Amino acid sequence: MTSRTSLLTWQRLEQHASEMKNVHMNELFKADPQRFEKFSLKLPSMLLDFSKNIINQETLKMLFALARDINLETWRERMFAGERINFTEDRAVLHTALRNRSTKPIILDGVNITNEVERELALMQSFVELVRTGKWKGYSGKRITDVVNIGVGGSNLGPQMVTEALKQYSDNSLDVHYVSNVDGTQIADVLRPLNPEKVLFIVSSKTFTTTETMTNANTAKKWLASSSFNESAIANHFVAVTVNKDNALKFGIEKQNIFGMWDWVGGRFSLWSAIGLPIALDLGFDKFIELLEGAHDIDQHFFQTELESNAPVILALLSVWNCTFLGAQSQAILPYDQSLHMLSAYLQQAEMESNGKSVDWDGNAINYPTVPSIWGELGINGQHAFYQYLHQSNNVVPSDFIGSVESVTPVKGHHETLMANFFAQTQALMCGVDETQVRADLKAKGRTKEYINKVAPHKIHKGNRPTNSILMTRISPYSLGSLIALYEHKIFVQGIILKICSFDQWGVELGKGLANKIQDELSSGELSDNHDSSTTGLIDFYKESLQK
Ligand code: F6P
Repeated sequence: MTSRTSLLTWQRLEQHASEMKNVHMNELFKADPQRFEKFSLKLPSMLLDFSKNIINQETLKMLFALARDINLETWRERMFAGERINFTEDRAVLHTALRNRSTKPIILDGVNITNEVERELALMQSFVELVRTGKWKGYSGKRITDVVNIGVGGSNLGPQMVTEALKQYSDNSLDVHYVSNVDGTQIADVLRPLNPEKVLFIVSSKTFTTTETMTNANTAKKWLASSSFNESAIANHFVAVTVNKDNALKFGIEKQNIFGMWDWVGGRFSLWSAIGLPIALDLGFDKFIELLEGAHDIDQHFFQTELESNAPVILALLSVWNCTFLGAQSQAILPYDQSLHMLSAYLQQAEMESNGKSVDWDGNAINYPTVPSIWGELGINGQHAFYQYLHQSNNVVPSDFIGSVESVTPVKGHHETLMANFFAQTQALMCGVDETQVRADLKAKGRTKEYINKVAPHKIHKGNRPTNSILMTRISPYSLGSLIALYEHKIFVQGIILKICSFDQWGVELGKGLANKIQDELSSGELSDNHDSSTTGLIDFYKESLQK
C-alpha cells in the first residue's frame, strides 16, 4: 500500500497548509459574511460550528478529496459490516451493533449479533429492575442501596463519565460509586461509609485479568466476607461483566450473575454494553436505552450522510488539518457544562489509546504527526488556570468548546454568565487584539507613553487559535449518547486518514508486563540484576525506606 505522504491529495494539502499558515481568521471572516452558515451544521441535539478554524472552502475540498482518495466511505462500510478491521487482533469493530435500535440484522461469522445484543439487554433490564425495585436482596434480606463498580480504563471511564453527566436524571434509588485505582486509598474511602449488607459490586473487566481490577475485586470480596462471615454471600453481592466467563466463575461469581460482552467491542467503546450496567442501575433502563438511541442516530448520520455534511468526518478532518498539516501538538476539550466534567478524561483514553501510535497498517514508521495529546478541564475552571497559555503561548492548541443552550440545573443568573464566557473565549481566541488596539485602549485609559511602551507587548493577543464549538440543546441521555458517538466516529475517521490501526492498544502491554515482574521481585525480595541503575536505585530506596 502506498504511504499517505505519496498521495497527490496529501501533497496538495501540505502545499495549501504552507499558504494558510500566513492567513488570519479575521481576514477570512471579513471576506465572507456567510462564513458561519457555510462552516456549521445542525444535528438533532446539537449545533457544530467549525468556522473558527484556519480553513477556507478550498481547504475543505482538499480534505474531502483526501478522504475519498483513501476510500474512507468504503472503510466506513467495512466497519459497519463487521469486517475484521482490527487486523492486529483479528477482530471486528462493532460497538455500533450494541446500539443498533433498528431491526436490521448484523451478521458476524454467520450469527445475527443483533439477537445476541438484544438478549443481553433483556438480561440487563430484568436485573436492573430487580435491584432498583428492591426485589434483589443482600445476604441478610436487606435491599441494595449502593452499587460499587470495580473496573479501570474502558471499564470505568465511560460509565463513570456518563453517570456524572446524567446525575440530574437519576431518581437516587441507588448510590453508584466507582473504584478504578489499585491505590488502596480509593477502595478504602469508597467502602468506609457503606453497609456490606446493602452493597452490590460489579466487577467490570473485559478480560477479567487486569491486575488492578482483580486486586480491588479481591479486597471487596474479603470486605464482604468479613461482614457476612460467609463467602457464599458473594451470590447476592457480586455480578461480573466480561468476555472471560471462566475467570469470573473461578473468582466465585455465580453463572447467572455474569453478563457477557464480545471481543468485537473495544474496552474504550464498551459503555453501550453491559459495561454500562452502573449507568442503567443509576438512571433506570429506559434512560439507558435513550443513551443508545442518541448514539444510534449519530451512527445513522455517520453512515448515511455525504462527507461534506458529515459531522464526525468534518471533526476528524479538521483535527488532521490542525495537527498533521498545521503542526498543533495537543488539543483541549473544554466543556462549559458542569455535567461534562469527566469528558476530557474520557476522550483522552478514547483518542489517545486509539490513535496514539507511530506505525502504519503496513508496519512502516509514520513520518507525519498523528494525533495530538488530549487534555482539558471544565472551561470556567480552565479560564482561571491555563487559558493564559491558550491565548498567548507559542504553542497553538486547537480546542473544542462544548456547552448547552439550556442548563439541566437552572440557577437564576448562572447559565448566562457561563455561556457569555463560552462565546467570549472562542471569539477572543480567534480575534485576538493587535498592538494598535492595545495602545489605543491604554491611551483611552489615560496611561502614560512610558507605561504604554512597557506594557503593550504583553497585552497583544495574536488570536488565530482554532476552536470548534459544539452547542448542545441540553444534556440528556439522548444528546449525551449522540455526543459520545460523534467523537467515537471522529476517532475512527482520524485513524483511517492517518493509516493507524485504531482498535488495538499494544502500547499498554510493555509496562503491564514489567509491573508484574517487578511485583514478583518486590514480594519475593529477590531483585533482578537486569534493571537499569535508575530503576534499581528507585526500588532499593523504596525497600530500604520501608524497612526503617
Ligand atoms: O490497559 C488498557 C486496557 O486494556 C484498556 O484498553 C481497557 O479499557 C482497560 O485496560 C481495562 O481492561 P479490562 O476491561 O479487560 O479490565
